[in-house]
Amino acid sequence: MEKDLKQAIRRLAKEKNAIILAHNYQIPEVQDIADLTGDSLALSIQAAQTNADIIVFCGVHFMAETAAILCPNKKVLLPVINAGCAMADMVTAEDLREFKALHRGAPVVTYVNSSAEVKAESYICCTSANAVQVVKSLRCPEVIMTPDKNLAMWTQRHTDQKIHIWEGFCPIHDGLKPEELQRLKEEHPKAVVIAHPECPPAILNMADVVRSTSGMLEFPAKSDAEEFIIATEVGLLYPLQRRYPNKRFYAASSRMVCEEMKKTGLQEVFDALLNEKHQVTVPEEIRLSALSAVERMLAVPRDN
Ligand code: 13P
Ligand code: SF4
Repeated sequence: MEKDLKQAIRRLAKEKNAIILAHNYQIPEVQDIADLTGDSLALSIQAAQTNADIIVFCGVHFMAETAAILCPNKKVLLPVINAGCAMADMVTAEDLREFKALHRGAPVVTYVNSSAEVKAESYICCTSANAVQVVKSLRCPEVIMTPDKNLAMWTQRHTDQKIHIWEGFCPIHDGLKPEELQRLKEEHPKAVVIAHPECPPAILNMADVVRSTSGMLEFPAKSDAEEFIIATEVGLLYPLQRRYPNKRFYAASSRMVCEEMKKTGLQEVFDALLNEKHQVTVPEEIRLSALSAVERMLAVPRDN
């Protein structure tokens, strides 16, 4: 049954010249049928470079919006239209306008986990992989960072620039308790702890390495360690284990599950392709402003 559905999805994708993208946190079956898996920004950039007519984005709403910002001539579909991101919902364009008025002159650096409207109110975007480089590239004494307070606090540790922090957070990462991680470290004393910068400072203090999901996927290749504790959403364990079958990975907490990322199953992907639903679009004026913020980020040189 699952095999039939997987075959039907691949057949439909071919017929419709569609590309299926899946975020690293999607369920294994969905990652398996995807053309590309990765972090949200990398997926959108790769999508923009293909000649597909349709993009099926297996992820949450802001990711499909980012693809729509970057690929205005493609039909971007989100299989489950109400799959959202609690952190992205913690700041609106109106909130940001008010915050900007409190810190006049400070450019806004917005994490890609945000709505198109919020990106459009921002000077530049960042990801968890490049936040420090993006802030430093601005060469100004003060910046605003939104929506993730943990990513902003992590960035503040690496720059003398003053960061005005919006108090949003990812409930999945922010909820990880130091006691849970400590217990796991004691159970696996040789394991290297890799944490996502959406985790709170107390967790990052206990980590050996802090990386975005794409950085977490790359790190074990460079390490002699055989065991790793992974402090991010549990979905990342699947691509890690697949990529490194001889290494062992432990989830920092079995509670680190983003239900929104798990809403998309094979049936939803099939229905999305068959009925070309649910299309995600961004009004042109907002798209162009949001695109400028994303393009400024893409122009910042990477050093990792
Ligand atoms: P990255 O995949 O960009 O590291 O982001 C993590 C995340 O929380 C996506 O929702
Ligand atoms: Fe948003 Fe957190 Fe879920 Fe990522 S894991 S989609 S940041 S709520």
